[in-house]
Amino acid sequence: MTVKPYNEQGETKKGEVRQMFNTIAPKYDFLNHFLSLGIDKRWRKKAIRTLSDLTDPQILDVATGTGDMAIKIHQMLGCKVVGTDLSAGMLDIARSKVAKAGLDEYITLAEADSENLPFTDNQFSAVTVAFGVRNYENLDRGLSEMARVIKKHGRMVILEFSKPTSFPFKQLYMFYFKHILPFFGGLISRDRKAYRYLPQSVLAFPDGADFEQHLITAGIEPIKRIKLTLGIATIYVGEKQ
Ligand SMILES: C[S@@+](CC[C@H](N)C(=O)[O-])C[C@H]1O[C@@H](n2cnc3c(N)ncnc32)[C@H](O)[C@@H]1O
Repeated sequence: MTVKPYNEQGETKKGEVRQMFNTIAPKYDFLNHFLSLGIDKRWRKKAIRTLSDLTDPQILDVATGTGDMAIKIHQMLGCKVVGTDLSAGMLDIARSKVAKAGLDEYITLAEADSENLPFTDNQFSAVTVAFGVRNYENLDRGLSEMARVIKKHGRMVILEFSKPTSFPFKQLYMFYFKHILPFFGGLISRDRKAYRYLPQSVLAFPDGADFEQHLITAGIEPIKRIKLTLGIATIYVGEKQ
């Protein structure tokens, strides 16, 4: 069953995801750092480090949201970055952050659907996505579009929530994730459904080897899987065949 933020009849998951992120955009960064106690910043840096051996990379960051990943990629790798997203509200925040940091010359932002990217084949050395793929309407279509625009032997780096498995951390985390996080997220963002959708979408999403099967279907060979913070999130690194 497809997990959608608002469960409205006749609305697609993509339409609801766009609407949700447009609504929560002004509070997104604050809530991200508050609800993860800032750990999300470390996770993004670790994901970007998997690209540090690339020379002169051209990088596309899809589902870039408010631009944290795109900005960090430029800061850590010193390269130009293209960031795309479905939500105009999230991109507005990203644009003001990029302008404030004086990075307009290095970071280009554009509204685009990851499942139908406006780029030619084999264009980028790497495509990255942080906390985006779980929201795709059609995961396999999104992954194969991302793969299409990567050069042969180029890289795909995906950072996504996963499910911890070890007792008693799993039980404690699930209580936080299903009850405490939706309460504070809903209160602060004033969109209760958005922060109920977060745990529901994570629980319904494939992780570990199951997720890697989708990479293989998209023509990406999994080369590294890094579990973060006892499995709350995972970095998947793959290479285009
Ligand atoms: C949880 S946010 C993550 C944003 C950012 N990558 C980060 O690390 O904070 C998910 C983002 O994915 C975007 N998104 C979801 N589905 C998308 C799609 N099909 N194409 C492009 N962006 C999409 C949403 O608009 C939202 O900005």
